[in-house]
Amino acid sequence: AKPRILVAQAIFPETVERLAQHFEVQANQDDVRWSPAELARQLADKDGALTTGAQRIDAALLAACPRLRVVANMAVGYNNFDVAAMTAAGVQGTNTPDVLTDTTADFGFALLMAAARRITEGERYLRAGQWKDWRYDLLAGSEVHGSTLGIIGMGRIGQGIARRAAHGFGMEVLYHNRTRLPPALEAECKARHVGKDVLLANADHVVLVLPYTPDNHHTIGAQELARMKPTATLVNIARGGIVDEAALAAALREGRLAAAGLDVFEGEPAVHPDLLTLPNVVLTPHIASATVATRRAMANLAADNLIAFFDGRGPLTPVNQLPGADEFLYQNGL
Ligand code: GLV
Ligand code: GLV
Repeated sequence: AKPRILVAQAIFPETVERLAQHFEVQANQDDVRWSPAELARQLADKDGALTTGAQRIDAALLAACPRLRVVANMAVGYNNFDVAAMTAAGVQGTNTPDVLTDTTADFGFALLMAAARRITEGERYLRAGQWKDWRYDLLAGSEVHGSTLGIIGMGRIGQGIARRAAHGFGMEVLYHNRTRLPPALEAECKARHVGKDVLLANADHVVLVLPYTPDNHHTIGAQELARMKPTATLVNIARGGIVDEAALAAALREGRLAAAGLDVFEGEPAVHPDLLTLPNVVLTPHIASATVATRRAMANLAADNLIAFFDGRGPLTPVNQLPGADEFLYQNGL
């Protein structure tokens, strides 16, 4: 019998059709938002799943799904996986690195530009009919080219942002990461490794592109915001929990930080109500990887992972290593 696969949220119909050539597929194409209990019920008789980052795969769910062998996340981030619990249960996890790197780096830069140059604030002003005349200081923002960029989390997306900044905008690039890049890569990105405090104090703009783990919950809180320049902008394209949203809203409201650009939020799809009232924050609904081409590539890679896994070829982009599996180079962060 064909393995049974659950597609947990709506994806491209072509991807569902492709999966159906290999598997018995049940797909949530109506995009019903399932509770954890409903997800466990839907998954109880399945051998594999395609998830989108909005489904939590933890010990409680795994206990209810004894047949489950593989979960392919259609996202590069996989903080929705309890990786230790999955490994303990013998469940393979995969993600979608590489295919979204440059698209996501583009968007990080777009948010930086929009926040620093007050683009969405200007559009709201214009649409509201408030534009009466030229004015010397109308929506005057902060400089992007030639300024200093701080990147926290220097994986592939961080490196993509560094290249854009250094080569396209003549920016000085500082970065902070758990591990230092090899010298050749540092040189190519024209990026200098510094401590987090040095980065926060010196950067004119800070972009967050680090994976969300318990260790970096609220990596940016009141203390870190206090170290930043009051003229600085903060961009988050990683995960909402990396920033203390209440502390950020207070800093933006009180003029201790000039602007922010946020694509991710602590309680997605809910947004902290204070952020919604502030003019100096650009808010987007978790769309950094959302181009048609990239979303297709992500869906295809997630499907390819499931197909390769059940073919016995092993997963293409694993995030955990099951006992007895071939060793892989662990490089599947952002
Ligand atoms: C999106 O947030 C992703 O992790 O791919
Ligand atoms: C972030 O990408 C890290 O490796 O710390």
